[in-house]
Amino acid sequence: MTKKNNIVVVGAGTMGNGIAQTFAMKGHAVAMVDLDSTALERGMANIEKSLGRFLKKELMDQDSLDATLVRITTSNELTSAVKDADLVIEAVVENEKVKRAIFTQLDAEAPADAILASNTSSISITRIAQACSNPERVIGMHFMNPVPLMKLVEIIKGERTSAATLETTILLAESLGKVVGIAEDYPGFIANRILMPMINEAAFALMEGVGTREAIDTTMKLGCNFPMGPLALADFIGLDICVSILDVLHQGLGDPKYRCCPLLRRLVEAGKCGRKSGEGFYPYEG
Ligand code: CAA
Repeated sequence: MTKKNNIVVVGAGTMGNGIAQTFAMKGHAVAMVDLDSTALERGMANIEKSLGRFLKKELMDQDSLDATLVRITTSNELTSAVKDADLVIEAVVENEKVKRAIFTQLDAEAPADAILASNTSSISITRIAQACSNPERVIGMHFMNPVPLMKLVEIIKGERTSAATLETTILLAESLGKVVGIAEDYPGFIANRILMPMINEAAFALMEGVGTREAIDTTMKLGCNFPMGPLALADFIGLDICVSILDVLHQGLGDPKYRCCPLLRRLVEAGKCGRKSGEGFYPYEG
């Protein structure tokens, strides 16, 4: 563990609660902040469910589970939560305006030497950092879903990110048992620059009738040894998130090859956003 021990996670959604859990499992004190109390309750319920799976598999004992939960506090109030923070990780909605407003507040209210990280999956770290008086301490720390299981943390250097910020962030990610992939700050970084065009192409293949959803997913799952087919993975990520990342790629890189498949957009417009909404490319129960 490095000296960065006091962690604040802003946003209690899927990524936020997964990040909070992962830091707490490694002994960090974590404050999970969200304006919405229901989101905080849901976030804690997810953490308990995930820890329960580790317990059941005997990857964790009851004492460590209890100690992990004790390390996580929740709050609706950012100002007081960040006043002693060493590292703040923002994991709110993929909306640049919202993120910039949060970073302006973090810049004013977190200690001057705290690192300010964004878990954005595609928005420019350089632009987010421009909302701060000290962009040198702003960095991208992109976790993968499900955070407690996925080995990678993609770390993104903004144009003004300092070498010290980068070095501390790498050490922190490694202290979680993660492997780091370092990306330059271009739209989609590495992971989504490559993953999203594949998902988009799978949606085009479905729309054009190249194969059924099952045929497309089975081909990629068994033919390429992916844990999930691209359409099931899109449902898992959230189709709305896929659309917003593709829009960032299309707009930021200006190449028509990144245009979002109309079928993907249509599903989102119908409220079919994947697992979380009960339907996406596939229906889900419960
Ligand atoms: N916490 C703890 N354990 C979990 C868990 C969680 N959140 N989620 C799943 N598990 C465990 C399950 O308990 C299960 O354990 P057993 O095998 O011992 O029973 C195991 O993981 C497998 O889970 P499932 O049986 O439910 O399903 P699965 O075999 O399909 O695995 C998966 C689920 C781990 C998600 C796997 O399908 C997978 O790795 N999929 C690909 C995930 C991926 O690509 N993620 C990256 C998405 S991109 C992203 O996040 C970035 C972005 O910006 C969009």
